[in-house]
Amino acid sequence: MIKNIYIQAFGCQMNVYDSERLKSILLSKGYSLTEKPSDADVIVLNTCCVREHAENRAMGRLAELNKFKQKNPEVILALVGCAAQKSGGKLLKKAPYLDLVLGTSQIFHLPHYLDNKKNFPLVSLADSDFFFSDILPERKKQFTSYVAISRGCDNYCSYCIVPYVRGPERHRKWEQILREVQCLSELGCLEVTLVGQNVDSYKDGKFDFPDLLQKVNDQADVKRIRFMTSHPKDLSEKLMDKMACLPKVCEHLHLPLQSGSNEILKRMNRGYTSEEYLALVEKAKKKIDNLSITTDLIVGFPGETEKDFEETLNLVKMVEFDSSFMFRYSPREGTQAAKFENDVPEEEKLRRLHILIQLQRELSFQKNKKLIGKVEEVLIDGKSKRDKKSWKGKSRGNKMVIVRDDKDLLGSIVPVKIVDSDSFTLFGEVFH
Ligand code: SAH
Ligand code: SF4
Ligand code: F3S
Repeated sequence: MIKNIYIQAFGCQMNVYDSERLKSILLSKGYSLTEKPSDADVIVLNTCCVREHAENRAMGRLAELNKFKQKNPEVILALVGCAAQKSGGKLLKKAPYLDLVLGTSQIFHLPHYLDNKKNFPLVSLADSDFFFSDILPERKKQFTSYVAISRGCDNYCSYCIVPYVRGPERHRKWEQILREVQCLSELGCLEVTLVGQNVDSYKDGKFDFPDLLQKVNDQADVKRIRFMTSHPKDLSEKLMDKMACLPKVCEHLHLPLQSGSNEILKRMNRGYTSEEYLALVEKAKKKIDNLSITTDLIVGFPGETEKDFEETLNLVKMVEFDSSFMFRYSPREGTQAAKFENDVPEEEKLRRLHILIQLQRELSFQKNKKLIGKVEEVLIDGKSKRDKKSWKGKSRGNKMVIVRDDKDLLGSIVPVKIVDSDSFTLFGEVFH
């Protein structure tokens, strides 16, 4: 009997990528996929644990989906990915109805585990190199796609759980990356985002990340290339030069700052100072025309004083980020920072977060306003959610653009004249 599988992914691009590859594996083994958990024989949650909130969301969804198992005890419930890797067997105590708990490497062996039902409930967290074999993308037309170039992280930022759940940094062979990008482009993909926890430190023999960008630019048929995440301590001038000259590489840098205070950056183990960060950004802006810079910021790290927080606000003002992901610090058991004292009270974290969000919203508003009257190249990937007569897409700077047009623009890359904007979105018309 063909089994119907429902997969939901939480968390970052890596989890989205892993879920897509898992789907390809399952399809190749004769399984079918469903968008509705009510139709599923197997329900898979690919989870995140980077903050407590992310973990709670996954556990909440699991409890919700258990109702399908209660209706039909034959339904198999699997919790996989980062939260599974973090908590392992403890999850069976919290959710005794779970059948499978698979860590970040074991998820690709799901079909094997599904063939061994007699061993349920089963927990497997072992490391595996399976990820580095060729898994061709699912045969589904997608205009944009992620391609992982590495796995894991060795940076051990003191607040971060990722190195513990994803293991040490390992890089894929450049030939394999190139094959995957080319295969995607033959399926109709126009834009790839090369993903890794720290793409700047990519290496394969004598080739580094800028070399990889050059190869993908020259040898694959995709139209656009993006990448994330860059780590400021490893961002090289060579990378900036490639961004400036390779036509397919979009002018967008996601460069997490985390904090503007040197004291906090030191205790975060980030490996740069606010001055170094600022100098890097100035250099990148000078070299790359129309560069859009986005970042990640954490407020309320243990011991963060009002002065430290103001330094973050100052740096945000100086850099003028196009947009930011802003988070309240969330202690993660097992990380160094979880042992630090002077935790900032929750209300204070919220107050700082609110101030930071307001500041960023104003900066984004001003930056987007400056684009009114300009022409942006937009990849149209769907209909606008709010206005069915309009299309939506992303500019090269990674901004959401809404385009009013009666023609079918789906899957095209068009010049768009920007006529209006707010903090989050640009609005425009096709420029003829
Ligand atoms: N590898 C990437 C991002 C990984 S996680 C990098 O180094 O930038 C994505 C973001 O989550 C981080 O940039 C950080 O801002 C945030 N984050 C990670 N751990 C966190 C924690 N314990 N509390 C709050 N935010 C956290
Ligand atoms: Fe986490 Fe730091 Fe690695 Fe990013 S670089 S995944 S924040 S440890
Ligand atoms: Fe979350 Fe794992 Fe990504 S913890 S942020 S899904 S690497």
